[in-house]
Amino acid sequence: MTFKNSENIPGGPRNKEGRRFETIQLHAGQESPDPATGARAVPIYLTTSYVFDSCDDAADIFMLRKPGNIYGRLTNDTQSAFEKRITALEGGSDALLVASGAAAIMYTVQNLASAGDNIVSATTLYGGTHNYFANTMPHCGITAKFVDPADKNYLKKFDESIDGKTKCVFVETIGNPNANLIDIDALSEVAHRHGIPLVVDNTFATPYLFRPLEHGADIVVESATKFIGGHGTVLGGVVIESGKFDYANGKFPGFSEPDPSYNGLKFVSVAPEAPFCARMRAILLRDTGACISPVNAFVLLQGLETLSLRVERQVENTVKVVEFLNSHPKTENVNHPMLPDNPGHGLYNRYFPNGAGSIFTFDVKGGREGAKKFADSLKLFSLLANVADVKSLVIHPAGTTHSQLSEKELTEQGIKGSTIRLSVGCEHIDDIIADLKQALDKV
Ligand SMILES: Cc1ncc(COP(=O)(O)O)c(C=O)c1O
Repeated sequence: MTFKNSENIPGGPRNKEGRRFETIQLHAGQESPDPATGARAVPIYLTTSYVFDSCDDAADIFMLRKPGNIYGRLTNDTQSAFEKRITALEGGSDALLVASGAAAIMYTVQNLASAGDNIVSATTLYGGTHNYFANTMPHCGITAKFVDPADKNYLKKFDESIDGKTKCVFVETIGNPNANLIDIDALSEVAHRHGIPLVVDNTFATPYLFRPLEHGADIVVESATKFIGGHGTVLGGVVIESGKFDYANGKFPGFSEPDPSYNGLKFVSVAPEAPFCARMRAILLRDTGACISPVNAFVLLQGLETLSLRVERQVENTVKVVEFLNSHPKTENVNHPMLPDNPGHGLYNRYFPNGAGSIFTFDVKGGREGAKKFADSLKLFSLLANVADVKSLVIHPAGTTHSQLSEKELTEQGIKGSTIRLSVGCEHIDDIIADLKQALDKV
């Protein structure tokens, strides 16, 4: 595969100076060295609280009349550098970094919906997200309706599932684990016809391969634990907003009406360019506290600096692994949209000029036992519950990440006992293929 650099990703220059992705991932959020010390790296501001100039100054910051730090549960300057950088990379107006991808998803839903409301989601999701939507979220009175993107009329099904109480449409850019794709442009039109935002989990694509906000999405969520951190060290989750959605359209009183917990302040007025993140930080983070540690924010910033380099190598290796597995006699159903017979191949050609990530599934001939034998026999690949690390990873989804799903839900998501999920890393391709080959020989 020949890599096209980011000039060829639709969207071209990414910031007002015309700088490209690779430059922004190194500089946005810290344009000049730390003014206090000259430190080139973003410092870790390990402090819980901040000294105000005066009581009046404190009151202005508390009431959001002026920007400023109050307390570590709400803001931190290491975290802010990350937020500015990911905002620039995704092409949004603001971002909020929180403790995990799961927290980012929960906050996103809770920022939009209240008891009695619902969301409409694709069935093809990370198992934890599916579990939250199907089982935990309803305890707060918010329900989910699911649409199978494999249905050839899925856009119509999304349209028909939205009712007067629906507060968002939720999908993953590249579905976990089967790497299915969804027409984000078309789905955003469906959501907008109903006056609700499209939320896209962009964890598997990263802004380097696809930027949902350029295709009509209003909110992007990502598990920063995966490609962004990239080294399997810390958890984090991020929400980025486009700044374009009209939260004053009558469906979202939490943004357009006076907030009783903030002396009657209206988020659409106080933060017109980023009301979504402002409210999430000021209300949800303030009251429920899934904040990121400054140390973790620093580690995630280090990850961002090499995001494009790692993703390029991982995609390059994945292309070769997919070709190897697709022609191996002991495998079947390699689920990657780069393959011409994959249902997502048309969208792959349209949306992914630089490849569709490094996480995908396939079936091992020999059923559940064959799949387990294969996974247990790998030596270079680590058997663990994570993806998108620089090291190659493997898991048996039916027995682990998706084990809380019912048989029916597993079938809907295309996960069988024989299904294996790989996350291809940055090792030398010859070593990766050799490991896969010796494990398949043992099946
Ligand atoms: C696509 C996707 N979204 C969200 C999450 C949750 O992220 P975290 O593990 O950081 O809470 C995961 C975790 O695997 C994921 O794969």
